[in-house]
Amino acid sequence: MCGIFAYINYLTPKTRHEVLDLLVNGLKRLEYRGYDSTGVAIDATNTKDIVMLKSVGKVKVLEDSIAENLSGKEFDEPVLIHCGIAHTRWATHGVPCEKNSHPQRSDNDNSFIVVHNGIITNYKDVKTFLEKRGFVFESDTDTEVIAKLVHHLWKMHPGYSFRELVEQAIQQLEGAFAVAIKSRHFPGECVASRRGSPLLVGIKTKTRLATDHIPILYGKDDKSPPIEKDTDSAKPQVLPRSESTSEFMPLEEKEVEYFFASDASAVIEHTNRVIYLEDDDVAAVRDGALSIHRLKKCTDDPHAREITTLKMEIQQIMKGNYDYFMLKEIFEQPESVVNTMRGRVRFESNSIVLGGIKDYIPEIKRCRRLMLIGCGTSYHSAVATRQLLEELTELPVMVELASDFLDRNTPIFRDDVCFFISQSGETADTLMALRYCKQRGALIVGITNTVGSSICRESHCGVHINAGPEIGVASTKAYTSQFISLVMFALVMSEDRLSLQQRRLEILQGLSTLADQIREVLKLDLKVQELAKDLYQHKSLLIMGRGYNFATCLEGALKVKELTYMHSEGIMAGELKHGPLALVDDSMPVLMIVLRDPVYIKCMNALQQVTSRKGCPIIICEEGDEETKSFSSRSLEIPRTVDCLQGILTVIPMQLLSYHIAVLRGCDVDCPRNLAKSVTVE
Ligand code: AGP
Repeated sequence: MCGIFAYINYLTPKTRHEVLDLLVNGLKRLEYRGYDSTGVAIDATNTKDIVMLKSVGKVKVLEDSIAENLSGKEFDEPVLIHCGIAHTRWATHGVPCEKNSHPQRSDNDNSFIVVHNGIITNYKDVKTFLEKRGFVFESDTDTEVIAKLVHHLWKMHPGYSFRELVEQAIQQLEGAFAVAIKSRHFPGECVASRRGSPLLVGIKTKTRLATDHIPILYGKDDKSPPIEKDTDSAKPQVLPRSESTSEFMPLEEKEVEYFFASDASAVIEHTNRVIYLEDDDVAAVRDGALSIHRLKKCTDDPHAREITTLKMEIQQIMKGNYDYFMLKEIFEQPESVVNTMRGRVRFESNSIVLGGIKDYIPEIKRCRRLMLIGCGTSYHSAVATRQLLEELTELPVMVELASDFLDRNTPIFRDDVCFFISQSGETADTLMALRYCKQRGALIVGITNTVGSSICRESHCGVHINAGPEIGVASTKAYTSQFISLVMFALVMSEDRLSLQQRRLEILQGLSTLADQIREVLKLDLKVQELAKDLYQHKSLLIMGRGYNFATCLEGALKVKELTYMHSEGIMAGELKHGPLALVDDSMPVLMIVLRDPVYIKCMNALQQVTSRKGCPIIICEEGDEETKSFSSRSLEIPRTVDCLQGILTVIPMQLLSYHIAVLRGCDVDCPRNLAKSVTVE
């Protein structure tokens, strides 16, 4: 999805060149989110003007255009106070082209310019309203209405501060958004806000910050009547001005730099001190002071926003010696699975403590059912662990795709426990499903990889999977860590069940050797690369398995689709004879997972059904399983582990296979076409 990056320096001299480098670098850190065009805006050298540059394609194109168009001696002169904004756009309204890229402007003079993530659902009504007042639109975007609405309010209320204008404007907007706004009338200032789309503020000072929180300033509790649909009289009603019109006391530093960014990876090389903004916060930087405002106070609102210290390291978001983030992340799995268990699984005492949910375990044990909800790979981690959760919790476990769950208006009860699984913690469908369940009184458990994310903040309790930043759009290490988090939860739930102790011990034993076994599987890389050479020119790949490995089939097929643009389907082997067998012949590529677990005989039946139709499957089997291997000339052997953990080992060859096929097909591994890392629109 789109990425916002803004940089404001106050009494910390920077040349325009340096500012542009900072902005472009910020955009590079956000590239992984997925985008199709870019843009940047800084102050022009002749004081009050703003220059904007926009381009279609990669950040590199923008960088080259900056080098070509924004150079000269004046760009090397230091500026004491400055605000620059930048954006990567993932097209929603209007095709990727320069005119639709951000920043979007209010007028030819760039009175107000906006970078925006998300969708303004009532933009047509706002546009009609503004057109009737003489505004001429130049793009196909919904974003342009924001810049023009702020401009309109500025003309109507000359005495208002920049922050007040934005505060008034966003009250008129519907939908989900994050915005950062710059103005030629308020040089050196920046105002940002969010509703449903992530945004954080990074703070960099020379000396240690004197405070670890920023008080929230509240306005009056009045409701803003929305702009009505296409009526002449419709107009944004101006709200009473916030009570806090001139107080900028919250965070005032002599020399300070601020960053507004869609996620922490864009600011970590500058500062580890950040504030995660909440929905409807309006954050304003003026004269080196940062203040956070809200128009109305709810009873349970905190008085301040906390300044948190990021634990992330810069190396974690660098590719190192790897060609792609995805490959790096696949090879990080021996460490990331250990990080997920660190401090939680105590192998000496065979006990597990999940600090984030331990106080809720009695309540969870009393629940009516467990619901596991997510999208894409996160959903697959639920499919992978459902059987074990049913076995160890002895509760009904429902597994749901977040989008479908909402479409169905699924009945939810107060005694349901709903798990929301999300790497980014920002997936709009998952977040909407969370809010739906929360409103109905269910207990909300978040399973996320992103501290401070919306899902993390809106859950009652949860488990951080601690996989470390995942940059490749294709989720890899987050999947195995989500898997382990849910296994750990199942183990916690069965701690006092005597009849389950033997089973728990064998799983704990499996967890203790997992990292080494993953290292063994990763040694198959060259062999997998050879298999990829056989497959990459084909149009399709069927992946079959059942039981604990069905999730690997779904996840493997998703990886193949998203990375290689080849068709691929994960097939429950039990369903083969109910239809998919018709696809099998001597030319259809098939991969089958056949392990020595309780469904081995059934998998062997499926294997025979395939080979007797002249199918030549690639087989994933257990090390030394000569009998299974004998059914094919191509196989990958993985170490033996307890049945419910097999899926962690079988998914790794699938991750590697999709990676190698993508490379052979010349696809952009880390940023597949049309996809985004965190899908913040429904
Ligand atoms: C995974 O490879 C995909 N890119 C995608 O399916 C992803 O898992 C899905 O969009 C959910 O994202 P989340 O885990 O951040 O919520």
